[in-house]
Amino acid sequence: MTMPIATSVPATALDPLETASIDQLRQHQLQRLRWSLDHAYHKVPLYRQRFDALGIHPQDIRQLDDLAQLPFTTKADLRDHYPYGMFAVPMQEVVRLHASSGTTGKPTVVGYTRNDIDTWAQVVARSIRAAGGRPGDKVQISYGYGLFTGGLGAHYGAERLGCTVIPMSGGQTEKQVQLLKDFQPDIIMVTPSYMLNLADEIERQGLDPHRLALRLGIFGAEPWTDELRSAIEQRLGISALDIYGLSEIIGPGVAMECAETRDGPTLWEDHFYPEIIDPHSGQVLPDGEMGELVLTSLTKEALPMIRYRTRDLTRLLPGTARPMRRIDKITGRSDDMLIIRGVNLFPTQVEEQVLKVEQLAPCYEIHLYRHGNLDSVDIHVELKNEHQHLQDEQQRSICSELSRHIKNHIGISSRIVLQPPYSLKRSEGKAARVIDKRQ
Ligand code: DLL
Repeated sequence: MTMPIATSVPATALDPLETASIDQLRQHQLQRLRWSLDHAYHKVPLYRQRFDALGIHPQDIRQLDDLAQLPFTTKADLRDHYPYGMFAVPMQEVVRLHASSGTTGKPTVVGYTRNDIDTWAQVVARSIRAAGGRPGDKVQISYGYGLFTGGLGAHYGAERLGCTVIPMSGGQTEKQVQLLKDFQPDIIMVTPSYMLNLADEIERQGLDPHRLALRLGIFGAEPWTDELRSAIEQRLGISALDIYGLSEIIGPGVAMECAETRDGPTLWEDHFYPEIIDPHSGQVLPDGEMGELVLTSLTKEALPMIRYRTRDLTRLLPGTARPMRRIDKITGRSDDMLIIRGVNLFPTQVEEQVLKVEQLAPCYEIHLYRHGNLDSVDIHVELKNEHQHLQDEQQRSICSELSRHIKNHIGISSRIVLQPPYSLKRSEGKAARVIDKRQ
């Protein structure tokens, strides 16, 4: 069964569904949801077993809210059916595989039919356009190419929009900067932490970032704060917007922040149906309440995902630049939440506080230790280059300022370890913020 997908939309115009009324959108979603459930049920044994066990047939789902009757799908399901057990089409129809490595065990493998690749290009093109990209813009893609969905996902989308693609991939930091200087891209697509690394290199090479052609950064693949957005925008003189996605659902381009409102990513609801649940009870929460984002693919052929638990914590907000709903900036993944002496902590909360201290670079590591039964936290931070010669007393005052902010805003006591400029490990993709030495 093949889902008909419109591909003839001109790249510059908004897709008709991007501006459809909420009623039209809901009708469309329901029709596509029915198709997706039917497809999953008939083509993927795991879905059929689970639906049958609950005595539910796809045809029992008559309205969007009925989706809540169906069971969740998790990363463990993909791992248990590694590599292709949840694919809904024969392998001859799968034109691409990607995989996410995860921190432990087997990777999760995702597959795409030709139509899926087309849908993906369409949502990424739509995302770049929503961020302010236009046909003819040069786009440097510094997300990694390969099994990670970032590089190729961004690539196909930028090409679809009619941009000139510079397929740089991650790494080779000096060369990245040479291309920014010589090829003069208008847009860069990269993780925010690697953008900081590139900004350091731009400075090291003695270049004035404001003289590059770059005007827009499309940043995602990891949590980042509004404070970091401002820091990047000021340092580079560009506009920094948030792109969200995950490989299990398609890759980058599930949601994108629009240039005109800059108020959190608009979720491309015509392809991905969102719910927010209480991560403990699994109950669906009303729009506006914080919880875990659950996504159902509405058009995906090779790997339909029904109620996939993303583990990402956010809330659904009403549409602004588009009628479709937005998600709030992701605080972090429920699995990344640290519990320190009973206090919940997300790395992004530390980022917010570090960026309040003017003399500190936007780089940090959280080191966790256990002494007896008690956890302790060291926050490693760096002085900005221009503050490297501060007196000891001034350095001590910076440490106590940060420690005080962390205590007041997060509620934990921490030891601040101040390091020289450029001494913390830099990321070339997703940053590793936490070093857990508690085991
Ligand atoms: O990171 C896809 C992607 C590539 C998105 C490039 C955006 C840009 P995965 O490797 O499967 O796919 O990781 C997905 O990364 O569940 C979130 O926890 C996190 N993540 C992705 N985008 C954002 C974002 C790609 N904008 C996981 N803000 C997701 C916060 C993000 N976290």
